[in-house]
Amino acid sequence: MRRVLRALGVLLILTAAVSCTEPSGADDAKSGELLRHAEPPPYERILPAPAAVRPGGAGYRLVPGTVIRTGTGSEEVRQIGERLAEQLRGPSGLPLPVVDGGAGDGILLRLDESAAELAEEGYRLESTAAAVTLTARTPAGLFYAGQTLRQLVPASGAGEVPGGTVADRPRFAYRGAMIDIARHYFTVPQVKRYLDQLAQYKINKLHVHLTDDQGWRLAVDSWPRLAEYGGVGGVGGGPGGHWTKDDYRELVEYAAERYVEVVPEIDMPGHTNAALASYPELNCDGKAPDRYTGIKVGFSSLCVSKEVTYEFVEDVLRELAALTPGRYLHIGGDEAHATPAADYAAFMKRAQEAVAGQGKTVVAWHQLAAAEPAPGAVLQWWGHDKTPAAERDRVAAAAKAGHRLILSPADRAYLDMKYDKDTALGLAWAGHVPVRRSYAWDPGTHLAGVPESAVLGVEAPLWTETIATRADLELMAFPRVLGIAELGWSPAAKLDWAAYSQRLASHGPRLTAQDIGYFRAPDVPWP
Ligand code: ACM
Repeated sequence: MRRVLRALGVLLILTAAVSCTEPSGADDAKSGELLRHAEPPPYERILPAPAAVRPGGAGYRLVPGTVIRTGTGSEEVRQIGERLAEQLRGPSGLPLPVVDGGAGDGILLRLDESAAELAEEGYRLESTAAAVTLTARTPAGLFYAGQTLRQLVPASGAGEVPGGTVADRPRFAYRGAMIDIARHYFTVPQVKRYLDQLAQYKINKLHVHLTDDQGWRLAVDSWPRLAEYGGVGGVGGGPGGHWTKDDYRELVEYAAERYVEVVPEIDMPGHTNAALASYPELNCDGKAPDRYTGIKVGFSSLCVSKEVTYEFVEDVLRELAALTPGRYLHIGGDEAHATPAADYAAFMKRAQEAVAGQGKTVVAWHQLAAAEPAPGAVLQWWGHDKTPAAERDRVAAAAKAGHRLILSPADRAYLDMKYDKDTALGLAWAGHVPVRRSYAWDPGTHLAGVPESAVLGVEAPLWTETIATRADLELMAFPRVLGIAELGWSPAAKLDWAAYSQRLASHGPRLTAQDIGYFRAPDVPWP
C-alpha cells in the first residue's frame, strides 16, 4: 500500500494546500499569513495548555535559601522532589536542597488522596509570595505539577514564579510517542534522552517498534538467533544491534520514574523478514531469506499453517510480557500484504490469544479491524485523508463494538512525514505535514463514527527508514511532537492554532537550552 501511497503522495502534496481541513481551532482568514512572535504571558506559555489557569497576586521568588519540601512518609514523593530539584538547579543556578517536612516556605509537594477533582494524573499549582504549592492525588500528578513548574521558572537565572494558580488534568489517558528501532537501530541511552524530552511535555506512553523486516532488536532467550543474527544490519546495511533484556529493563525502569509506560511492539505476521531470515522453519518453504536492508513493505509473512509459528509467537510474547510491567503488548498486524486475508484472521486470532494468555491487553494497528479484534483489544489508527471509506467504516464499527482507539493519523501525527518539499529527511506518502497541519485537528471528532469516548488517546510515531541519528530524530520530532502532546492533554476548548503557535514559539529557547535540534518551521513565529 505504501508504494501506491507514495505515488499518490506527489499528488497529495500538490493539493495539500487546498484539501487541508482543520476542524477545530482553524482560523482560515489568517491561514498563509505568518504571525509575528508576541511573547505570551507566563501562564499562557505552559505547553500543553492546562485545563484552567488563573494568574494573579504576588509570585514566589526563588532565592539561594529556597528548599523543596516533600512532606513525610512517601519515598516516591521524595524521589519526585529530587528529580525536580535536578531539573530546576541547572536553569536556576540555585542549590534547592530537598527536605522532609511540609511546613514552611519554598516549593511544597503534597499528595492529597482526597482531591477527587484532580483525577488520576491531574494537579494543582499555586504560586504566592510565601510558596509554590504542588498538590496531586497521585505521584504521576505531582510529577506533572513539577513539569509545569519548570516552565514557569525563567529559562535562565533565578527569578520569580509568577503569582497564580493552575488546575489541570489530561483530556486523554494515552498520550504516546513511538520510536522505530528496527529500520535504524537506536540505543537505550538515545531512547532515554528522547523519553526525557517527551515526559516534560506530559507524554505518558513510549511505544517501541522492536522488530521489522530490517532488524530484530530485542534478545529472546528461547529464540537466540532473532537478535544475534536478525539484529545485525538495518536500512542501508549499517551495523544494527539489539537490546539485551537488561537494556530493555533499564529503559522500562527509567520510563517508570518519569511516569511513562513502555508499550513494546512485535510486528506480525508481516514485517517479519528479520525473524524469517533467522529461522528457516518459520518459512512455509523452510528456506530462510537473506537479511533485508531496503525500505519496501508488505513482502514478508510468518507461515500461518505451521504449528512452530505459534510456538515462536507464544515464546516471544511470554518473554516480552515477563519484562514488561505495563498493560499493553502491541502485535502490529499492519501491511500483511503477503498473508492471505483468511490466514491473517486465523493468525491474529491466535496471536491475540497469546497476549491474553500473558494477562496483557492487545494493541494492534487498525488493520486488525478487518479480522476479529479480541474483546478489549485497542486499535491504532494510522490512516489519512485518502484512506478508503470501507477501511474507515471497519474502524468505526470496531469503535461501536467497544474497542478503544489510539489515533495516529499519518497525515497529522507521523513524525517521519516531510514538513515540506525542502525537508531532506523523511517520506511523503501521506503528504507533507507542516507544524500547523500536525496540530490543527481534534482527536475527539477526527474520525466519523468514532466518538470521543472511544478515543483512548493519541500517539506520534517516528518511523526510521530515513532517520539514523539523534540529530535526524530531533529535527523530525521537534516541534511536531509537542503539538501531539497538547492534543493528548489539553481540553478541546483550548485547541487554537494562533495561541498554540505563539506558545510553541516561546519554547524555542527552552528547546535550545536543552540542546534539542528542532526544525525552525516557517509556520511558527519563533522569536
Ligand atoms: C504503518 O505505518 N505501517 C503502521
